[in-house]
This record gives sequence, C-alpha cells and structure tokens, in this order.
Amino acid sequence: MSLGIVNGTIVTAVDRYSADLRIEGGRIAAIGTGVAAGCDPVIDAKGLLIFPGGVDAHTHFSLPFGGTMSSDDFETGPRAAAFGGTTTCIDFAVQYKGQSLRQGLDAWFAKAEGKATGDYAFHLIVADVNEQSLADMKSIMEDGVTSFKLFMAYPGVFLSSDGEIFRALQRAGELGGLIQMHAENGSVIDVLVQQALAAGHTAPVYHALTRPSIAEGEATHRAIAMAEIAQAPIYIVHMTAAEAADAVAAARARGLAVYGETCPQYLFLSHENYLEPGFQGAKYVMSPPLRAREHGERLWRALQTDQLSVVATDHCPFCMKEQKELGKDNFAAIPNGAPGVENRMQLLYHGGVAEGRFDLHRFVQITATNPAKIFGLFPRKGTIAPGSDADLVLFDPAGTHTISARTHHMNVDYNPYEGRTVQGRIMKVVSRGELVVDGDRWLGRAGRGQFIRSAPFTRV
Ligand code: URP
Ligand code: ZN
Ligand code: ZN
Repeated sequence: MSLGIVNGTIVTAVDRYSADLRIEGGRIAAIGTGVAAGCDPVIDAKGLLIFPGGVDAHTHFSLPFGGTMSSDDFETGPRAAAFGGTTTCIDFAVQYKGQSLRQGLDAWFAKAEGKATGDYAFHLIVADVNEQSLADMKSIMEDGVTSFKLFMAYPGVFLSSDGEIFRALQRAGELGGLIQMHAENGSVIDVLVQQALAAGHTAPVYHALTRPSIAEGEATHRAIAMAEIAQAPIYIVHMTAAEAADAVAAARARGLAVYGETCPQYLFLSHENYLEPGFQGAKYVMSPPLRAREHGERLWRALQTDQLSVVATDHCPFCMKEQKELGKDNFAAIPNGAPGVENRMQLLYHGGVAEGRFDLHRFVQITATNPAKIFGLFPRKGTIAPGSDADLVLFDPAGTHTISARTHHMNVDYNPYEGRTVQGRIMKVVSRGELVVDGDRWLGRAGRGQFIRSAPFTRV
C-alpha cells in the first residue's frame, strides 16, 4: 500500500517548495509533481506546511527518580509526543552505581519492548565510571547507542568526579561517541540546599535559590575545558543560564565541537513561576531551575545565532498529586522534572516563527534536523527526502491551539503552559508512513514504535 500526500508545502532545514509525496514501506519513495498517482489513500494537504517529524533528543519515560517514577511510559509518552508533532524520542537509559552499562541499557529496552507507540533511540546515563564501564562503551556503541550522559550534579546518585568525566571524554573521543553533560556544580548546590533546610526554608522557590546560575555557568565552562583537553566533542544538555550560553558560544567561536541544548521551559517560563501561590511552584521544580527572564532572552538569542543547536524537552513528568506532593514540607524532596514532550513543536513554532525570532527552516533545524544529525539518526530522521523515514507533520499555520491539561495527552495532571494559545495547529502526523494522529484521533498502537540505531558521532 502506498500513501500519497498532495498539494502541501514541504519545509526542511534548507528548502521550501510545493510538491507531492509518495510513501512506500514507511519511507519516502518519491517527491515531485504527480508522484502520488495511484496511491491509496491520498491525503490532501492544501494550505498546509509539511515538516519533518520532530526529534526530541531528551526524554525520560518511566524514570525512577526521587522515590517515584516519571508518569509517562513508552506507551503514553511517544503518543503524546506524536500529538505534538514529535515522531522520534531519544530517551535516557540509566546505568545505576554498581550496575554494568549493559544492565542499564537492557532495562530500558525492556521498558520499551512491545509498548512503544513511536520510534525511539537511547542515550545511556553513566553513573559508575570505572574500567569496566569504559571498556563496555564500545559494545554499547556497536548496538546503536552512541551518546553517554554524565552528571556534575546529584552527589551520591549520579555525580562523577572531574577525573571520571575526563576519562569518559577521552574514551568517547577515541570511540566516536558523544558525551552529554548535566552541567551544574552539585557539590556547591548540596551545601546551599543543606543550609537552606537548616534555616527552615522548605518552599519550592528554594529549589531555585539554592541552584544559582553561576553554578551552571562554572560547570559548563569546566566541562568544555575538559572536553577540549580530551580532544572530544561535548553536548551540554538542558541549558538555562546566560553564563552557560556564553561558555558554549565562546567555545564554538573557537571552532570546538561543542553543542548546547535548551528546552521550552527555559524560554517560556521564568523564576516568577516559583512564586505561584501555595505549593504550585512545585510544578516547575526541575534541574537546572527556571531563571530570571533575562536568561530566557539570552537563550533565544543563542538559538538565533547558532550558539545553541537543539531544543529538546527534558520531558520528565510527575503528577502534582502524590508525586510532587512528596516534597510538600521539603523542597529537596520534590521529584525533579516537568512535562513538555507534547508542546515543544507548538511552542517553538509560536515563539520562534510566529513571533519573528527565526524562520521556518531554523525551526526545523533545531527541533528535528540538528538533533538527528548530532545523535546519528540523520538522514533517516530529521528531514524530508527520498529514502528517509516518512515522519511528517501536516501543519496549519493559520490555525491556533490552546494548551491545557484538560486536553493534552501526557499522563500528568497539570501543564506548565496551561491556557496559552499558540499560533499554528498540528492537523495530521505520519510516523514511518502510518497516519498516527488525525486531528484529535489517535490511530497508532502500542508496540508499533521501533528502536532506531544511532551512528557514531560525526561533526555537525
Ligand atoms: O529535573 C530534571 N531535569 N529531571 C530529569 C533528570 C535530568 O537531570 O535530566
Ligand atoms: Zn540532567
Ligand atoms: Zn533530563
């Protein structure tokens, strides 16, 4: 069966043109005038833009964290992502201390197996950098997982020492892997947290007050310096702070293979959200935290000028009821993370394209093409071209959409962007040639999502 899409305007990171699409076997077979002749079914995309399906390079489905588990799994998470135009999620498998890398990765394969509603790839969190882990990175990469996240935060759980980080950078550099860094000075933050608690400060806002932006800037600078010495590329995840953006910008200006990611929450929300009444500030407890507005403006500017390369979500949802509530009397016990996988493309189109910060092509680049390239999924994912997977978003730029927990598909009882109306509306979503979202209807099924192997890192 061939699927045809006619009369649409195809938009990639570099092109914009009117053409028809012919899709066979889940891949784009042909693009051009009349190529959909004989296809059944045929979708009429008149008046619509057709983007590549989004690639969210940072999700946490079924992540055990802070004594609970993130509330979207591989069934609900990718489905919600698809409603928001994201057809590939790169999730973080976790090696906990005392485990092998293989044990960590296998646990995440098991979570996705038979359940995933959309395509997925994996990064692997390395909590235990030791000789065995370093040796095992090779076979993990041979199995299609080529990026490894390390932490400069969360002492006792995930934090690695500078020496461990440096060894992992050297090893990744020699294997063609990519180290991702959670860059916050966790040791300093830990002291500030203990001091705040000792002073009787328990409210959610203290989560932010004990994680100053300079702790992120310092760690980002240090991580980049270690990568430079190791002659390895580095990717800084979930960047929030002007100081961190400055460090990445300076490194890129010197030609280093340094990449920065930010997330919609750091562009659209701010420190003021922590001051919402009662315990509402807990909705925004994530690490690093939301910052003062000027940091958000700096991040937008970094996206405009290619100082930052990717917008991902760090989707890590916890319900207010029974999950965020774990920290009602102690901000440090609030599980860290927030939802967003469904809203990333909507928000970025609105704030980026509709509000005139950048063009459609830059929008596609930072939401799909760049993450696909950096994490070895391109050109299968991240573009619209013959031979690429037919992952497509049919988008009405004249429509609007109001974000709300009442209508979203994420398995979480609040939405950080509640009530915002965004310009543009996702009408249909095709994943590997299958129409999975048609307006409000979900047409996919559990188990349809495939694991997508990542190729080793090549310079982007
Ligand atoms: O608060 C966050 N970011 N939770 C998810 C874990 C992480 O550090 O990415
Ligand atoms: Zn992190
Ligand atoms: Zn994360």
